Amino acid sequence: MKHLLKLMDLSKDEIMEILDLATKLKKEKKAGVDHPLLKGKTLGMIFSKASTRTRVSFEVAMYQLGGHALFLSARDLQIGRGEPVQDTARVLSRYLDGIMIRTYDQQEVEDMAAYGSIPVINGLTDYAHPCQVLADLLTIKEYKGELEGLKLCYIGSGNNMANSLIVGGIKTGMKVSIACPKGFEPDEDLIKWAKDNGSFSLSQDCFEAAKDADVLVTDVWTSMGQEAEMEIRNGSLKDYQINDKLMAIAKEDAIVLHCLPAHREEEITNKVFEEHAKEIFDEAENRLHVQKAVLVKCMAD
Ligand code: CP
Ligand code: NVA
Repeated sequence: MKHLLKLMDLSKDEIMEILDLATKLKKEKKAGVDHPLLKGKTLGMIFSKASTRTRVSFEVAMYQLGGHALFLSARDLQIGRGEPVQDTARVLSRYLDGIMIRTYDQQEVEDMAAYGSIPVINGLTDYAHPCQVLADLLTIKEYKGELEGLKLCYIGSGNNMANSLIVGGIKTGMKVSIACPKGFEPDEDLIKWAKDNGSFSLSQDCFEAAKDADVLVTDVWTSMGQEAEMEIRNGSLKDYQINDKLMAIAKEDAIVLHCLPAHREEEITNKVFEEHAKEIFDEAENRLHVQKAVLVKCMAD
């Protein structure tokens, strides 16, 4: 695997291999076994948006793998003053062994990979959040034992998380259902692809989508970069919430995931969040383990 730009680029086998390696690395780490598989390697981490989990988990991942991570705020880089991504990619390729980038436009990530000569990992764009969804898949596998055949339901804004969950869910054989208001649907091409390649449904009705779900997922109504639309989003998405009524429709042993940060009493009630905090924070922890697997797959010799 050269890059991780979006889950659509990976086969089912590649996804399952990442999850298996993540499980192995997680087990080893907890048993106190070091695995310096990226000794002497440096990852540059470019951030055009805020981050807690992605920044910290990638930095710790590189450290635990025997390598080093550099935090590069886009505001301080020349890229923030208009230096083209094509040139930035070629320069950074002369210093670094890999790049993790969080930005707005998916094309910037694709260009970074096309012009640079080192692995590029997408740490979130407006279009996709592949590392998060790999962590979600790992968490689901840990709780349910398998992915194939499970019903994965996403409630809320058809954003980067929805897009990546559709691809990750369908590729791993899950039944994916999405509930979102009209005008806030996930990417149109992905919806078409999902319908052609697996069990997929899109509805405006949360209860229809959540019926008998094994996994319920939600995310903020307003993503980073959408702040100007906050008022209209709060209005349109106000009924798209994981709450007790929705939990009653899902399977009794359904798990709840949230990529975080969460806005309690908006997309999820505080009660449901706290009742499912174990799963949600296991999911956050799994960012570390899954990203170590991704880094090894992309950057190890
Ligand atoms: N879930 C996630 O990507 O969190 P951060 O924005 O804190 O990195
Ligand atoms: N959809 C959210 C996810 C944050 C991790 C955003 O893009 O802001």
